[in-house]
Amino acid sequence: MGKATSIAVTGTPGTGKSTVCALLKEYQVIDLNELIRKNSKRFQFDEERDSIDVDISILKGLLPMMTGIRIIEGHLAHLLGPDIAIILRCSPKMLKERLKKKNWSKEKIQENLEAEAVDVILIEAEDTDAEILEIDTTKMSPDEVAEAIREIIAGERRKYRPGNIDWSKEVLDWY
Ligand SMILES: Nc1ncnc2c1ncn2[C@@H]1O[C@H](COP(=O)(O)OP(=O)(O)O)[C@@H](O)[C@H]1O
Ligand SMILES: [Mg+2]
Repeated sequence: MGKATSIAVTGTPGTGKSTVCALLKEYQVIDLNELIRKNSKRFQFDEERDSIDVDISILKGLLPMMTGIRIIEGHLAHLLGPDIAIILRCSPKMLKERLKKKNWSKEKIQENLEAEAVDVILIEAEDTDAEILEIDTTKMSPDEVAEAIREIIAGERRKYRPGNIDWSKEVLDWY
């Protein structure tokens, strides 16, 4: 039995991780939100932020054993020791539209727009041993994003090299 290859599909909330992973039916996908929800008793609830405070080492221990290729989907997936971290990116302007559909508070939406604007997930991923790739989903349909992930799994690297996505021009328009 060969070692499993784990592929994180990560990105700021609203970038389309769950939508695209639902299209990747040929792969085993671990949905971290679901895993956390099912095991919520093992984590602390942060009343102030109205969210579960996820301990990464506990979450790692909850990952099921698997062989072959496994996709781990969620905005913490890059922190769980994947071989490859695919970061879905989206321009803050478009991300705002996607986040509005989540019915979250203004504060929570703003927090995520800022996180995307300043590359929080990319910076976190750079601190891991994972090979990093980025997909700019701003103008892509979910099907096109799914195809891009299939391309990466098939070996494409050049098109998705990290470091080419920069929202700073757009962010300057905020001021
Ligand atoms: N590529 C895309 N183009 C347009 N809308 C998208 C795309 N991907 C996701 N969406 C929409 O954006 C919203 C957030 O997507 P979702 O998959 O829940 O994001 P995440 O799982 O990363 O938080 C949903 O309403 C979804 O239908
Ligand atoms: Mg999701």
